[in-house]
Amino acid sequence: MSGGFGRAVAHSNIALAKYWGKADALRNLTAVPSLSLTLAALRTTTSVRFDAGLVADEFSLAGERVSGRPFERVVKLLDAVRAEAGLEDHARVESVNDFPTAAGLASSASGFAALAMAASRAAGLESSLEQVSALARAASASAARSVYGGYVALRARAEFAERVLDGAAFPLEMLVAVTVSGPKGTASTDGMGHTQDTSPYYPAWVDTAPSVYAAVRRAVETSDFSALGPAVEHSALLMHASMLAARPALIYFAPATLRVMERVRAFRQSGGRAYFTMDAGPHVKVLVEPAAAAELELELRKLEGVSVVLRSEIGPDARWVDA
Ligand code: DP6
Repeated sequence: MSGGFGRAVAHSNIALAKYWGKADALRNLTAVPSLSLTLAALRTTTSVRFDAGLVADEFSLAGERVSGRPFERVVKLLDAVRAEAGLEDHARVESVNDFPTAAGLASSASGFAALAMAASRAAGLESSLEQVSALARAASASAARSVYGGYVALRARAEFAERVLDGAAFPLEMLVAVTVSGPKGTASTDGMGHTQDTSPYYPAWVDTAPSVYAAVRRAVETSDFSALGPAVEHSALLMHASMLAARPALIYFAPATLRVMERVRAFRQSGGRAYFTMDAGPHVKVLVEPAAAAELELELRKLEGVSVVLRSEIGPDARWVDA
């Protein structure tokens, strides 16, 4: 087959119970279970066209040609699709994020989920969401979760993610406080490898993470925000404790990161309900009920070192879109 085309949209996700570390680096299987929330406001659209006239794969993000490691990861996913479809043509991949890439939020999750979906379609594969999720997971584990909307789990060593709960059944929102602009420090894949290799707290993280995941999952399934919030914060801080104990230490905190956390805790002390989480970067994501989101958003905007606050509802499944 030649000239196949596919286009797909996928939303980013933020883990409420974190994944950090691999059980199998070669197959990219995770060492711990994770559970995430898909975000409506952070979206990637990707189109893939296989073309017999191309001498190599091409990948552009927001119209700019991408090379180096990000490009190689795209080629690896395309190779997997070609192998499955019995295809030899190269592909042109065009990707656009509808959120500020410069803010350092560009997540591999929505990107690889949209790519997996678009490339399978372009290659003529009749892939199920599970198959797309497995393809995305091999490229970046968090991307497996972006194939589904709402609350999504990826069990330890799982090939693909699973839907836990529809967003409408437990409609929370997330505020993303962008604290420092520019590209992030150590990429997740490198950071977790370094933590696994050097942190004496990594085994403790792997031992503890399943019970925190179970608490997060139970709280989601029972729509219990008071139980969910503390477990979400615990998961993020446990993960960061393992990073801080690596040698040399992996420190993703910026001064404004701590300012946002402090503000969220003060919000709770004055009777509000909101909980923070953070990933391999200095930005803070705050889980909040819709009724309190506008007030907290304004408060976070006032903090020194916070450049942007994005507000997002829970997002839907990734999907194919017409050309
Ligand atoms: C801190 O999925 O980006 O965001 O599988 O190596 O591509 P690779 O890593 P990635 O790691 C995400 C780590 C995290 C927590 C999470 O999303 O669960």
